[in-house]
Amino acid sequence: MKKVLIIGSGISGMTCAVECARLGMEAELVSPFCSERSQSVMAAGGINAVTGDPEEGDSAARHAEDTLKGGAYIAGEKAVKGLCEEAGDIVSWLESIGTVFSVDEGGRPARRAFGGQSYKRTYYCGASTGKQIVSALVMEARRFEAAGAIKRRLRSCFHSALIKDGTCYGALLFDEASGLLEPVYADAVVMATGGQNALFGKTTGSTQCDGYAAGRLFTQGVELKDLEFIQYHPTTLETAQKRMLITEAARGEGGRLFYEENGKRVYFMEEKYGPKGNLMTRDIVAREIFSAGRQVFLDVSFLGRGLIDERLPEVRDLCAKYRGIDVSREPIPVEPSVHFFMGGIAVRSDHQTNTGGLFAIGECASMYHGANRLGGNSLLAAIYSARIAARAVSERVSPGGRPDFSVFAREESEKLRDRARTGSRFPVMYVRGMLAETMNKRLGITRSEEELEEGIREVDYYLSVAEKINYDASVLPYFNYSLTGILTLARAVLECARARKESRGAHFRSDYPDTREEFGYATLISFGEGRYDARLDEGRSYES
Ligand code: FUM
Repeated sequence: MKKVLIIGSGISGMTCAVECARLGMEAELVSPFCSERSQSVMAAGGINAVTGDPEEGDSAARHAEDTLKGGAYIAGEKAVKGLCEEAGDIVSWLESIGTVFSVDEGGRPARRAFGGQSYKRTYYCGASTGKQIVSALVMEARRFEAAGAIKRRLRSCFHSALIKDGTCYGALLFDEASGLLEPVYADAVVMATGGQNALFGKTTGSTQCDGYAAGRLFTQGVELKDLEFIQYHPTTLETAQKRMLITEAARGEGGRLFYEENGKRVYFMEEKYGPKGNLMTRDIVAREIFSAGRQVFLDVSFLGRGLIDERLPEVRDLCAKYRGIDVSREPIPVEPSVHFFMGGIAVRSDHQTNTGGLFAIGECASMYHGANRLGGNSLLAAIYSARIAARAVSERVSPGGRPDFSVFAREESEKLRDRARTGSRFPVMYVRGMLAETMNKRLGITRSEEELEEGIREVDYYLSVAEKINYDASVLPYFNYSLTGILTLARAVLECARARKESRGAHFRSDYPDTREEFGYATLISFGEGRYDARLDEGRSYES
């Protein structure tokens, strides 16, 4: 029986495990903690699909057109079409496994409007869609766990991949209980490790998602793609620890953005873009809020308490709890914040990386969203990519012999032990904090050559000292051994942003404000002997 090692147990990882089990394979799900604590539970607004009961005029083809346009035309057309064609089936499947979607007056699953979409096609569960899907998937996975087809390995973190001559044979995993590294062999490894939020410190996402796995794989020869495209969600609420997401659904239900000038409200999005102004794509709305240069507010009060209670209870609760705001009477002060990463591990249409047997799915993979993702397409892509990877492993990967990685495992274990022995009192979290400052400052909503070069100099400095300081006994061992990996990834992000000398989607260069046709390709980046090679993928090598 083929064995698939899946790193990460959020929505994408769990779906992949369920699908592998369904296709007769054995799946091992690796994560530091249970699925209910994955970043997936934070997904709020919904999942896009054109089902058998669309709004008049809508179709999977229109969904694909909106997705490609929203992504500023650099995502692969074939892949996006596949995503949108399977979306209806995905929503039906989610219902069938127990996802409780909100319903309309007729008792059918309800749809709401989301940014950049020409029709209402976002299915939702209040504003906690991710949580509901996770709950359903946990139960679905349990059926296969009971039968022994899915195994869970908890308190376990990815350290590195077992790669030889361009093929991946498994992963080296760090066991938090024993403090040991263990090589785990498999016929295929699927990365489902989420985005890179923690590179930026305070964001809407989980502090566990720091991109380490992508950074480490990068140094092991795996190519990354489109790292410069970082989505700032236009409406978040500042709190001490986090930026709380004020779901786009608030604007989908009719919420309006404004600022005040001379004592009067200016509904700047509607003034500039017309009646659908509040629901322009996120890159545009975030940039407009940033350019307003003053506090912007989101008003949902006129929807009335009844509708707010019914459709936006999570927005009502979090504003009341964290900021004492009664949204049925007062506007919400909002700011853009880092939310999602369109870039990540480069994968072909079957979700295999440039390394045989190594796949990537969900937010850690770069495939469907181009330069800017539409709200509601991330849950969809998380599930679709998981299905595609499971099918590819089932059909194309053959079980085989494997080289011995015990020397590699021993050397890496010795490195960890030596560091722990020599130690350093320098707090590793301080370096992470410095990195977050650099990333926020140099990779903001607008960028320039000068800022990006400064960012590269800063990250090079952190890298030059990282080996000396990356053992701090007061934090989880993971935070120590991951430091160099996340710094390397950060450096790669800055390189990609520097290489794209144009503005497109979420990447806005103040020194190159126009979109340039000659840049209408994805950016690829690879690493070799300390060199970062960022270039345009003019041959569209990952679209097959
Ligand atoms: O605003 C939101 O509810 C976010 C949704 C998404 O990122 O897909």
